[in-house]
Formats: sequence, C-alpha cells, structure tokens
Amino acid sequence: MKALILCGGTGTRLRPLTFSLPKQLIPVANKPVVFYALEAVRAAGIGEVGVVVSDAGDAVRAAIGDGGRWGLRVAYIPQDAPRGLAHAVQVARPFLGDEPFLMVLGDNLIGEGVAGCVERFRSRRPDALVCLAEVDDPRRYGVAELRDGRVARVVEKPQSPPGNLALAGVYCFDRAVFEAVDAIAPSRRGELEITDAIQRLLEDGRTVEPYRLSGWWLDIGRPEDVLAANRQVLGTLEGAVAGEVDGASRITGPVVIEAGAWVNRSVVRGPAVIGAGATVVNAYVGPYTSIGPGATARACSSRLRQ
Ligand code: TTP
Repeated sequence: MKALILCGGTGTRLRPLTFSLPKQLIPVANKPVVFYALEAVRAAGIGEVGVVVSDAGDAVRAAIGDGGRWGLRVAYIPQDAPRGLAHAVQVARPFLGDEPFLMVLGDNLIGEGVAGCVERFRSRRPDALVCLAEVDDPRRYGVAELRDGRVARVVEKPQSPPGNLALAGVYCFDRAVFEAVDAIAPSRRGELEITDAIQRLLEDGRTVEPYRLSGWWLDIGRPEDVLAANRQVLGTLEGAVAGEVDGASRITGPVVIEAGAWVNRSVVRGPAVIGAGATVVNAYVGPYTSIGPGATARACSSRLRQ
C-alpha cells in the first residue's frame, strides 16, 4: 500500500503566513505540520509516499527531500493548480497504479496517527474507508451520515448537516476511486471534491466504511488552528535539555531545550520548546510556547492568550 500526502493548495485562509511559507511547512511545536503526517505514515508500516505539490512546491521538496530521514521513499507529483482533492487523486494515478492507497491531507494532525485506520482497511477491505471526527460546527466540513455501521451518505459543507461526524482528512481507497473522480464535475467553488467522489462510490454500490478517530484531530486551516495545534502537541511533551541553561535561570514543567540553545537569566515554564541555537536572555517563556530554531528572545515575556 502506498500513501498520498496532499501538499498543494493555496492556503488563502492562512495568509499572511502562507505568503512566505506553504501551509504544510508551518511549524507546530517547532516541526513542520507535514512532518507529523510523514511520521504517522511510516508508523503505519507504509514505505512509499507520493507528495502532491503545487507549482510553488519547491519549499516542500526542499524540506522533505527524498524522505530518507523517515525511512520513506518520496516521489513528488505536481498539480498545476489547486483544482480539488479529487483532482489530486487524478493526477496521482500513474504513481498509485492499481494498488489500494492511504490519502492524508498535509495540513492535518491526527492525535492517534493513521495506523489504526490502515489496519482496519487492510483487514476488512472495503472500497473506501473514511476517518471521522466529531466536530462542533459540521457546516464547515465534509459530513458523513452513517447507517448500520456503514457510511450511507457524505455531503460537503452542508447547510443542514445530517450529523456532527466530519471527514477528518485521512482516507483509504481501492482503485474504484479512480472511476469516481473521473465521473464527478467541479463543485460550485470550482473544485473536484473528494466528498463528491465518495458519494459517487456510494451511488455505484461500493462499500465505504467509517473509522471513528478516538483522539483529537486538527485541520490547520486558520491562524487560530496553528495556535491550537501548538498547544495540543506541546501538551504531550516530555522534557529534555540538550542546550545550555545558566544557574540564574529557572526551568519548570516539561521543557525541551534543543542542542545549541542558550537560556540565560530567564524563567521557562513548560510545556515549551526552545529550538536549536535559539537564545533566551532576561526573558519569561510561559507554557505552550515554541521558540523557533536560531531565534532570539531578549528582555521579553511570552504568554499564550487563552
Ligand atoms: P484545503 O485546506 O482544503 O485548501 P487550501 O490549502 O487551498 O486552503 P484555503 O482553503 O485556505 O485556500 O486543502 C487541504 C489540503 O489539501 C492542504 O494540505 C492542501 C491540499 N490540497 C492539494 O494538494 N490540492 C488541492 O487541489 C487542494 C484544494 C488542496
């Protein structure tokens, strides 16, 4: 089984951050968002990954490289314009061949990873499996309606949602999906929607199974999602000090101080990460803070607004 990670798109909702950085490279706890997806794919036992990139995908290529650092083999699949998630599946067809595949959005974070859903797909072999998460406002998402333990209907950003189970950016498909993505037309926003392709599978009598995520799921679409993700990931941090801390500084709670970082006459209250080579002098670093690699925090205070 191969994996497809989607790193195209425009990231308009994350402007101005995405003027200088593709959204999949925005750091969460000092690590680009898409690295979490790569780690999760590897942990699910998959070794070959296609990364869909836009024309401006050079930064993504530079960051991920050949995937060797994760023990993965990574190929890049250019998408000429963000024509939708189902279009990304179409352009990836030559890479994917006829084998079943896992598809993950490069800007999503899944607390429990993807091993559980891949395992379920492998053991039950439906035509498709969709990961679902309960959400407060289903009108912002693709929403699934379940019947007798199966997915009965999916609908994109419904005005009157049939429930609160959102499609959580992780899917497994067999080759039936290729016919489905070829059969659908662009939506009102001009994209080939994966939700429409899944609905098409259902109308063709294919089996689509739900997989309910047990942990948290975050879709990094808006600036507040970046802060929420940072908070969520730092909440599971285990402290480790590789950098230098002087005797006048106080470190409490889980704090990672990476190699080459220097903390001087400061207070750091975890959970927090001080990136490699960063300098913190006469500063207060409060809980749920990430200081980027090489950054300088001098005579200042960081506190996350609740
Ligand atoms: P979205 O968040 O749906 O779209 P976007 O990245 O264009 O963002 P915005 O709506 O703020 O403009 O995309 C989800 C993921 O899929 C993200 O990692 C980008 C990727 N993607 C593609 O690879 N190709 C596409 O055609 C689209 C629409 C998204």
